[in-house]
Amino acid sequence: MKVCRSIGEIKSFVRSAKSSGNTIGLVPTMGYFHQGHLSLMRLARQECQIVVVSLFVNPTQFGPGEDLLDYPRDFERDIDMASQEGVDIIFAPEPGEMYPSGYQTYIEVGEITTPLCGRSRPGHFRGVATIVNKLLNLVEPDRAYFGQKDAQQVMVIKQMVRDLNMNVKIVNAPIVREDDGLAMSSRNVYLSTAERKAATILSRSLQGAEQAVNNGETDALTLRKQITEKIGSESLADVDYVEILSIPDLEPIQVLNGQVLIALAVRFGKTRLIDNAIVEV
Ligand code: PAF
Repeated sequence: MKVCRSIGEIKSFVRSAKSSGNTIGLVPTMGYFHQGHLSLMRLARQECQIVVVSLFVNPTQFGPGEDLLDYPRDFERDIDMASQEGVDIIFAPEPGEMYPSGYQTYIEVGEITTPLCGRSRPGHFRGVATIVNKLLNLVEPDRAYFGQKDAQQVMVIKQMVRDLNMNVKIVNAPIVREDDGLAMSSRNVYLSTAERKAATILSRSLQGAEQAVNNGETDALTLRKQITEKIGSESLADVDYVEILSIPDLEPIQVLNGQVLIALAVRFGKTRLIDNAIVEV
């Protein structure tokens, strides 16, 4: 597996892969790999001839006071894990390579970025859309892979790709969970033992909601109340949002109909975790 740090190197790698007629799969990441990342790499490995993983903690998607500096990093471990998955190349640029001095172009996706994490983390999706756009331009993949845990992120990227007529298929892969249901996230490492135990309330409350829907509940307000109360029963949990929105537009709904997204963001101490479920009525 090759590790490349510069835009020049990745471009020349892509040029040569394409000239030999290979399909390229891109897995954009911020590193500190877990099974969720590895599942994306495996899917890319199955579906594409060349697998590129980008590893870049993107400063523009972190707001002031967020965890940019603390974000967990372990480059050597990541390299080993990616290499065991048969990844062909890791693109791991320094921030100055992606945002050189004088940089001034950003991608703003519209309404779909306003609810959920867009509301709690102003500017977050501007940073995500910008870096993903740059990575797609550099790697020119046939397919790019994203985890469903960041459900709004996947929708924002699909919207950008559609709106800007970009020539790539966005593939989203299911959430990978720990045995006790906690969605895998690089940020889980921040949790204390007590917070880690408490955080299982997220998947448990989503399961409860899915069960309620299966039993015929279609009132969004009632479901939201049930979920919020269940999370509230966990003293270490501090709810940021519990929302039930339409797919794919992420608009508020009163009555569940068709596919809907139940999305949560909850703080445990200084750690903010997200989780979600898609239910169908
Ligand atoms: O999901 C992530 O890890 C990041 O938001 C992404 C897509 C790699 C962009 O920095």
